[in-house]
Amino acid sequence: MPEKKKFYITTPIYYPSGNMHIGHTYTTVAADTMTRFKKLTGYDAYFLTGTDEHGQKIETKAAEAGVTPQQFVDKIVGETQELWKLMNIDYDDFIRTTQPRHEKIVQKIFRQFYEQGDIYKSEYEGMYCTPCESFWTPSQLVDKDGVKVCPDCGRPCQPMKEEAYFFRMSKYQDWLIDYIETHPDFIQPPSRANEMLNNFLKPGLQDLCVSRTSFKWGIPVDFDPKHVVYVWIDALSNYITALGYGTDHDEKFQKYWPANVHLVGKEIVRFHTIYWPIMLHALGLPLPKQVFGHGWLLFGNDKMSKSKSNIVYPAPIVERYGVDTLRYYLMREMPFGADGNYTNEALLTRMNADLVNDLGNLVSRTVAMIEKYFGGEVPAPGPADESDRTLIERFEALPALVEEQMDALQFSIALSEIWKLIGDCNRYIDINQPWVLCKSEKGLPRLKTVMYTLAECIRAVAVHIGPTMPSTPEKIFAQLGVTDPELKTWESVQKFGQLKPGTKVCKGEALFPRADIKKELAFLSGEPEEKPEAKPQKKQEKKVEKKAEVLAGVATFDDFVKIKLIAAKVIACEKVPNSEKLLKETLDVGNGQTRTVCSGIAKYYAPEEMVGKTVVLVANLAPRKMAGVLSEGMLLCAEDAEGKLKLLTVEDGIAPGSEIS
Ligand code: ME8
Repeated sequence: MPEKKKFYITTPIYYPSGNMHIGHTYTTVAADTMTRFKKLTGYDAYFLTGTDEHGQKIETKAAEAGVTPQQFVDKIVGETQELWKLMNIDYDDFIRTTQPRHEKIVQKIFRQFYEQGDIYKSEYEGMYCTPCESFWTPSQLVDKDGVKVCPDCGRPCQPMKEEAYFFRMSKYQDWLIDYIETHPDFIQPPSRANEMLNNFLKPGLQDLCVSRTSFKWGIPVDFDPKHVVYVWIDALSNYITALGYGTDHDEKFQKYWPANVHLVGKEIVRFHTIYWPIMLHALGLPLPKQVFGHGWLLFGNDKMSKSKSNIVYPAPIVERYGVDTLRYYLMREMPFGADGNYTNEALLTRMNADLVNDLGNLVSRTVAMIEKYFGGEVPAPGPADESDRTLIERFEALPALVEEQMDALQFSIALSEIWKLIGDCNRYIDINQPWVLCKSEKGLPRLKTVMYTLAECIRAVAVHIGPTMPSTPEKIFAQLGVTDPELKTWESVQKFGQLKPGTKVCKGEALFPRADIKKELAFLSGEPEEKPEAKPQKKQEKKVEKKAEVLAGVATFDDFVKIKLIAAKVIACEKVPNSEKLLKETLDVGNGQTRTVCSGIAKYYAPEEMVGKTVVLVANLAPRKMAGVLSEGMLLCAEDAEGKLKLLTVEDGIAPGSEIS
């Protein structure tokens, strides 16, 4: 047998400084989908992901949590691996930068750079962003209300100075410009190549600081142990240390390097297309064939990120709608490369339209008709007409169309090609009207053709969607009665007509549940499940009645004094994950005590606006869980003229904990 072609794909190794969210899931699902596609189409594909575990931020977070950095990362890495299991991610290796297999080789690489004169010792002075672990030049900082902030996360940077090793990037600058200009596929999409050339390379590369003495949680420089290797040399090397580079067992490295593609978010394209190629070149190694910088999943207009607390986590979505629904949405909704907004509404709409209506109905209708008209056996096709021939043409054209788009990492277009076949099948049913054909002897031969053609197209759809939606094909094959592994392969969908007449179909459960979008949106935003709805008119009337009651003095003074109102100061605030309405506030309630309260005001206040306000807290309500968070009280608000909620605040000088009477 000829040797299979190799395909090596990677994701970034993520910081385990907090749990992975839907942004990390996006890249990881894309890499997994691509790997599965390559395996399906006959490649020997290898998929690496992992975690980037060193650095000051992790050291600080661990100290805050009262555990060692290793204990801190171990917990999050365990949870990350669980999440990837839930997402059906089938990686070949998971590298952790704290593993000895990685640390030893990073030390060796660092020493080699030093010995060959690429690294030298000097002093670093610059503006440093602790959450992002990045030094920035003055021109890279962004001005926000007169403060210079980090261009990635928008937080203030601090001046910092320390002895450090530097990598002589400038030495390789001209070589890299030439390489990028003569390898147009290296950086994708091409706009990102222009950005690298024009913003970083052509203005002149600064030497890169590659060690730190100000924190300890890193790989020690073995010939100068007060330094630890600064994260980017440590992190980027993972792509080769995981393959055994630099060891006596480098078979995988020999087999898979250079990588076919590094998938990364657009904010780290710079590290992957400037520093990494220079490091590899200095080691005398070939460069990866491609670095693809995809866009961001936005939440509102902001990048979802661990440091901004505007995060959507995948697990609750998967538990409610299934893993393939989320995988499909992520790969279908936005072109790979562009930014896109994540919304629960778009997810549910796609699920109902594409998965329930188009795909789910096609399968259930077809299986039901084969049961009704042919006792559950796929009939041998009769004569073909124009409508069959058109559909068969699309069937046979599909694999090449999908492969072309997948090779360009255009997941959404590949899926839309598959959905065109699904749409055509649904139209084919409407054109041929099996419910009319079944009424006469004359219609029988056509009915056979129609049923066979539909069953065969559905088989092809199941094979094509497998890489994106790995748990759905088997459900479809079970309903179609396809058990032969040969009929689940890529080869088997190149040519129409492989399904054997006589195959016994078997009606099963609906592939996807239909969502009541309004109800589901309320659920996802943390509202309690809705009771049968009062008419809006009535609601309004009730509200007015209630107001009138209050004004008319139905409550007694005794009722009033039962409610304990106090002043409370907001000391921290964040959005409640998976809720569009709720903010979670941490309140200083005096005497060194704090309370957590959830309020349905996320539409009216950004979390950072809340911090510092002294508000009115109803302090003796029974605690209540809202969207999984225990809320210990309620903040008082009133509607303004436009119906927007405004918080009631108290005048300066009133200390947290002061009773309001
Ligand atoms: O940068 N939209 O780790 P990280 C799309 N350790 N993708 C997103 C995203 C979003 N809102 N948020 C995160 C690091 N990602 C380094 C990498 S590699 C040698 C070292 C994805 O935990 C996207 O792939 O900050 C992005 O590049 C990556 O997670 C950043 O993960």
